[in-house]
Amino acid sequence: MNDLTEDCLKEQLNPRFPGLPFRFHEVTDSTQSDALNWAREGAPHGSFVLADTQSNGRGRRGRTWEGGAGKSILISFILRPQMEPDRLGLMGGAAAIAVAHALRNHTDIPAQTKWPNDVWIHGKKVAGILLELVWRESRLEAVVAGIGINVNQKPEDLPPGTRTPATSLTIEASKTWDRCALLCRLVEELNGVMERAQTDPAALLAEWKALECTLNRQVLAVDENRQIKGQVTDILGDGSLKIISDGRERQLRWGEVSILPDFE
Ligand code: BTN
Repeated sequence: MNDLTEDCLKEQLNPRFPGLPFRFHEVTDSTQSDALNWAREGAPHGSFVLADTQSNGRGRRGRTWEGGAGKSILISFILRPQMEPDRLGLMGGAAAIAVAHALRNHTDIPAQTKWPNDVWIHGKKVAGILLELVWRESRLEAVVAGIGINVNQKPEDLPPGTRTPATSLTIEASKTWDRCALLCRLVEELNGVMERAQTDPAALLAEWKALECTLNRQVLAVDENRQIKGQVTDILGDGSLKIISDGRERQLRWGEVSILPDFE
């Protein structure tokens, strides 16, 4: 029996979030593209698009996202945050914090965030997040947070030869997980995190720092123009990463980070 169906979601979500709009597809191109269209048509804050399988899943920096059919959580949330644009950097972190909390609370596995918006377990990526913005003229209308979580993949189900080492909850805990229950937990955590992002961003930032695996580690960071090798010392209020490199302080607003072995 499939562990993720529209009916099981309605049954489990309705008592906690009555009437929360969502769209479920057994197969779609990309929940992200679906959610972007729905956001432009006016979908309310918190609504989401979910799929059992994607045929054209998209990742950050033009990469593809392969979600093993029937084994992942593939979801895109439509968010309409009421916050100053200079705080928007917190949004990627907020989604990663929600995923890490959901995994920790539901499975007891020590998931961590990895800046800017991944979730890792024991040095391997278990979830990725793609944030895309919907603008109307110069006004930000919505943020679409697309989340892919490797849940029930066995080692042979993960795409071979990826640049980043990958894992799944099944690999980490040697058991099969009920995706519907995990998804309900994620919806709950995301709602809580989004509320804190607006009412108490300082507390949310403290949560992020407590979960972040790059803090105090030596890293190689890259954005469009530069490569920085140094030690991560902080995450700032706008979500940027503070790195000390050759005695100088650098701030990275976005980019990718690899953790270097401690002995380097
Ligand atoms: C990354 O790590 O590069 C981000 C991956 C984001 C993948 C998710 S899966 C659900 C949603 N739909 C997509 O097409 N992409 C995101």
